[in-house]
Amino acid sequence: MFYLGFNVNFMSLFLFKIKCVCVVRSVMMDPSPRVLVTGATGLLGRAMCKEFEGSDWTIIGTGNSRAKPRLLSCDLTDEAAVRRLLSDSKPHVIVHCAAERRPDVVERHPEAAANLNVHATALLASLAAASGALFLYISTDYVFDGRNPPYGEDDAPNPLNVYGKSKLQGEREALRHCPGALILRVPVLYGEVTSVTESAVTCLWLNVESEEISALDHTQQKFPTDTRQVAAVCRRLCERARQDSSVRGVFHFSGNEQMTKYQMGVAMAQAFDLPSNHLIPLTEQPAAASAHRPINSQLNCSRLQLLNLGIEPTTFSSSIVECLWPFTADRRWRQTVFH
Ligand SMILES: *[C@@H]1O[C@H](CO)[C@@H](O)[C@H](O)[C@H]1NC(C)=O
Repeated sequence: MFYLGFNVNFMSLFLFKIKCVCVVRSVMMDPSPRVLVTGATGLLGRAMCKEFEGSDWTIIGTGNSRAKPRLLSCDLTDEAAVRRLLSDSKPHVIVHCAAERRPDVVERHPEAAANLNVHATALLASLAAASGALFLYISTDYVFDGRNPPYGEDDAPNPLNVYGKSKLQGEREALRHCPGALILRVPVLYGEVTSVTESAVTCLWLNVESEEISALDHTQQKFPTDTRQVAAVCRRLCERARQDSSVRGVFHFSGNEQMTKYQMGVAMAQAFDLPSNHLIPLTEQPAAASAHRPINSQLNCSRLQLLNLGIEPTTFSSSIVECLWPFTADRRWRQTVFH
């Protein structure tokens, strides 16, 4: 027992020393590269900060309305504030996650969406170019019309809704102001959510859990993608691009399971051993009340695959359990799956 106690004390002294060294190192030499993550309070931004934190990076995360301690509050549509942010933080890399990504919201508020998705992107890209920072813009499969999948990086975009148009315009502004920019197009995302309604994927949990008859779309082919994977791709892509100036331009990344919302709902129910016979596949195209969506905007990700970034594929059913278990009423999941 005494021996064990001695070991523990020795260990904590050792850890204390490591901590001091880290503080001194960051103040005196600051050898770790700095990444600025915009939208750091959002679904993707949170995963992005976690990913870079787990590696040798110093993170500057910015959010707007939801900014919390450790994160800087910055309205990206305020030019003076953005200029100040960049001159204060001097990032080596900017990962621009902040966007209005809800197609129906963009349809109703196109100008507010353009301010963030297009104009803020143009400003950040020009400041990145002026300071020599690497700029990574997160874009979407909705730049394509979905009639002729899978889509390569050079295939002609033809967005069907205002959201897709604004993100495509954002891509063009990024490349116009910062020709060495990286663009990563990703499809619908899910991940660790603060509420299930935060992602169009985890939102389906409400239908699964209620056990009331609900019709789910079974026409649009989706490729639900885990934010942790996207974040891992972004970090490794940035690290590669910092070493290799030929790694520039547009890349695609996507989960590899094709599913409609109906199929996602059934897969969630199965993953949690819940009934799914209250879920009804809706095979009619949705009414034109909401923003038009592509029928199948599958991304061809071969350009990214050729970089061999070492991203291991995950399955929807295991990843979705990790994201949804905090919202399940069944405590078994808390005990058996994660402890
Ligand atoms: C994806 O793109 C690569 C490179 O352009 C091409 O060789 C391949 O055939 C494409 N795959 C599909 C399924 O279209």
